Amino acid sequence: MSVRRLAEDQFQPAAFAFNDENAAWADKTIQKYPAGRQQSAVIPLLMRAQEQDGWVTRAAIEKVADMLDMAYIRVLEVATFYTQFQLGPVGTRAHIQVCGTTPCMLRGSEGLMSVCKSKIHHHPFERNAEGTLSWEEVECLGACVNAPMVMIGKDTYEDLTPERLEEIIDTFQAGNGASITPGPQIDRHFSSPEGGPTSLTDEEPKKKTSAKKVVAEAATAKVDAAPVPPSEAARPKSTDAETNAALKTPATAPKAAAKNVKAVEEQAAAPAADAGKPSLTDKNRPAGIEKPATPDDLKLISGVGPKIEGTLHELGIFTFAQVAGWKKAEREWVDGYLNFKGRIDRDDWVKQAKALAKGGEAEYIKVFGKKPR
Ligand code: FES
Repeated sequence: MSVRRLAEDQFQPAAFAFNDENAAWADKTIQKYPAGRQQSAVIPLLMRAQEQDGWVTRAAIEKVADMLDMAYIRVLEVATFYTQFQLGPVGTRAHIQVCGTTPCMLRGSEGLMSVCKSKIHHHPFERNAEGTLSWEEVECLGACVNAPMVMIGKDTYEDLTPERLEEIIDTFQAGNGASITPGPQIDRHFSSPEGGPTSLTDEEPKKKTSAKKVVAEAATAKVDAAPVPPSEAARPKSTDAETNAALKTPATAPKAAAKNVKAVEEQAAAPAADAGKPSLTDKNRPAGIEKPATPDDLKLISGVGPKIEGTLHELGIFTFAQVAGWKKAEREWVDGYLNFKGRIDRDDWVKQAKALAKGGEAEYIKVFGKKPR
C-alpha cells in the first residue's frame, strides 16, 4: 500500500464547483440525513466530485468540507483513506485497479500487473502517452472467489488471464469500454464453481421430475396390473423398442422395468440437455481414445473443473496431448458441445495443454509465469 498524498500543486486546479446537475444531486443527497448528521454525505459527495473531474482535487475536498460544515482535515482524512478516491490525475478512459492481495496474487495478479506495465506505464499512477490509461495496485476488492480481478470505475472484471486483460485494456483505449460485460470473464455464473455445480447435483428441475413421475407411474402400473396397458397419455412418446416391450410385457420382472424406467428417464431428460449441442457424429468431433491407465489431470487446464473433466472423459479425451492437438474446427466443436461461447480459445486450452504435455507443471510455469490451477 503506497502513501496517499494529494497531487503536486502543479496539477491542482484553483477552484472546484459541481455542475448544475451534480449540485442539485448533492443538495438532495445531503437532505437524506437528519439535522446535524449531514457529514454522513461526505463519501457520496467526494465520489460525485471524482466522477465529474476524474479525480479528487484539493479544491473539491475543500468545497465538500464547506458544504458539509466540516474541517478540511476531516474530509482529507476520508479522501486519503479509501483507495477508491484518486488523489491525482488518472487515465481519462480507464484507471485500472489491480488487486494484489493474497488470493489474487496466488491466482496470477502479478501477470496482470506486468500487462499494465507493458501496455500503460511501468509505474503505477503514471498515465500512458495519450493520458487515457493508468493503473495501480490495490488491496482486496472483495471478489477473491473469482481471482484474479481488476476494478475499472465501478465495475469489476474477474477470472482474468493476462491475455483477457490485454483485450479489456485495448477495448477501453478504443473508447468501447461499455461494450465489455463486467464480472467473470469465463463461463462462470456469478461466483458459482467454475465448470458448473459440484454439489447438490442430484436435484432435478421440476419438469424433469414430472416426466420421471409419469414414466415411473406408467411402468409400475403395467407391472402391477398386467392386463391393462398404460394409457397413451401416460406412455412416454420417446420410449425405445426395448422400453416399450418392458411396459407391454407383464411377465417382465420389476427389476427390468426399473432398468427401463431409468433409460426412459434419461431419454426424457436428453432433449433439454442436448439442445443446441453439435452432433456426436459430427466430423469435427475430436477423436477419442480408450481410457489410459493413468489419464492426465485435465483440471490443470484453466477452465476445466471436475464436471467438465467428466464430460471430456465421456468424449474419450483423457490426455493433454489430445487437447494440444485440437485444430480450430475441433476446438469449435468442443466449445459448442460444452456451451462455452469461445472460452476454449479465450483461455487458450491448446497452449496450456501443449505446455503440460511437454513438461508438466514446470513447463507450464515457464510458459505462463504461474502454476497451473
Ligand atoms: S484478494 Fe483480490 S479481490 Fe480479494
